Amino acid sequence: MAKDKSVFTCTECGGTSAKWLGKCPSCEAWNTLIEGAAEAPAGKNRYQSLAKPQTVATLSEIEASDVDRQATGIDELDRVLGGGMVAGGVVLIGGDPGIGKSTLLLQALDSLSKTMRTLYVTGEESGAQVALRSRRLGLGASSVRVLAEIQLEKITATIAAENPAVCVIDSIQTVYSDQLSSAPGSVAQVRECAAQLTRTAKSSGTSIVLVGHVTKDGALAGPRVLEHIVDTVLYFEGDTHSSFRLVRAIKNRFGAVNEIGVFAMTEKGLKGVSNPSAIFLSTHGDPVPGSCVLVTLEGTRPLLVEIQALVDSGGPSPRRLSVGLDRDRLAMMLAVLHRHAGIACLDQDVFVNAVGGVRITEPAADLAVMLAIQGSLRGRALPRGFFAFGEVGLAGEVRPAPRGQDRLKEAAKLGFSVAVVPKANAPKKPIEGLTIHAVERIEQAIDLVRTL
Ligand code: TYD
Ligand code: MG
Repeated sequence: MAKDKSVFTCTECGGTSAKWLGKCPSCEAWNTLIEGAAEAPAGKNRYQSLAKPQTVATLSEIEASDVDRQATGIDELDRVLGGGMVAGGVVLIGGDPGIGKSTLLLQALDSLSKTMRTLYVTGEESGAQVALRSRRLGLGASSVRVLAEIQLEKITATIAAENPAVCVIDSIQTVYSDQLSSAPGSVAQVRECAAQLTRTAKSSGTSIVLVGHVTKDGALAGPRVLEHIVDTVLYFEGDTHSSFRLVRAIKNRFGAVNEIGVFAMTEKGLKGVSNPSAIFLSTHGDPVPGSCVLVTLEGTRPLLVEIQALVDSGGPSPRRLSVGLDRDRLAMMLAVLHRHAGIACLDQDVFVNAVGGVRITEPAADLAVMLAIQGSLRGRALPRGFFAFGEVGLAGEVRPAPRGQDRLKEAAKLGFSVAVVPKANAPKKPIEGLTIHAVERIEQAIDLVRTL
């Protein structure tokens, strides 16, 4: 008799392998493959079932109806959701522990509960703890329904009975299905529970929000397959030491991605920050060396973020560290600075930081980072009211950033006065109060700031 086949599944990405390996062949994580039972082999005629052909429609004949949205009443959350919750939509919201996921969702549910039925399923805290938080948030008279339960079948049965318009599952890692023998939080459980809840959402029209934990390196814990199952993935960012929190849309079937919502954590929960452009600037009395303001574009809003660099003589193996910026990109920029602008940091430690815990992924940050580095190396501050943006290529060219005009206008509005920007982003008409230096190459930009 043939031996039962087993399959090894990666706990990080859900990839599979027929034999045990030290390194996952899909995501290259080490020591993550775990043995599990393989699915029973499909019958011979699996693909030749007796199902009848179905009617197919022509695309142009299908009526394109706009999705029905339910605004949560929390403007910054609605912004990342693309206008509000969609009936039958599934949202995954991830973030570090203690960053404010439960707080935000309780606030949103309370606001929604004024007009519709809502259900908060808590697997991490008891009903009493949720009640305590709601009192703290000043939601004493809230009509949100609460269920403290972790068994999937009981949860889906309750959803069917209560028929809420919006249901929050806090968190998906605590839920388990009794169909599977593995422990709650394991890849198989998380994947199965998310899939079941998604089916429930689609069939009942309930919008479901899944809360997901995040591992240290920033991936949603367990299987990344969750991101494929759900309609929208939101991700909490920010420094738990500062009061600002960003919610970023990574994927959204019903709206734009990379849109961010900005919140401040207060004594009474999260409050939206409607005009966030200047919150990531630190306040120096006089300009200091190693600091350069960047105008970055997050979704539809420009944000001004201070980039700080510190270049200091290092030991035999100098360190390059970055907070909020990509470290590989930093190494690349140091090489470009050396090769094209003659600025060598070979024997120096280089640290760069985006102020306020904001994570910057767009390459348009390059120019500001390089100007901050050269400022720190020379010990010379950039002039007051200075800012920069633009991508720098390996050949030393300065490439344009998308929507340059919006960035310039935002900076001008906040009282900034001098800029170094890519030539293609230079405005045709002068902007009032703004002196713009357009550059095509990095060495040009470096020479220019030396004369400012
Ligand atoms: P929480 O929503 O429990 O985080 P998560 O669900 O993402 O793990 O947030 C808890 C943190 O927020 C905790 O450190 C206390 C803080 N907090 C406030 O500062 N003000 C408040 O009104 C509340 C409810 C929490
Ligand atoms: Mg929580």
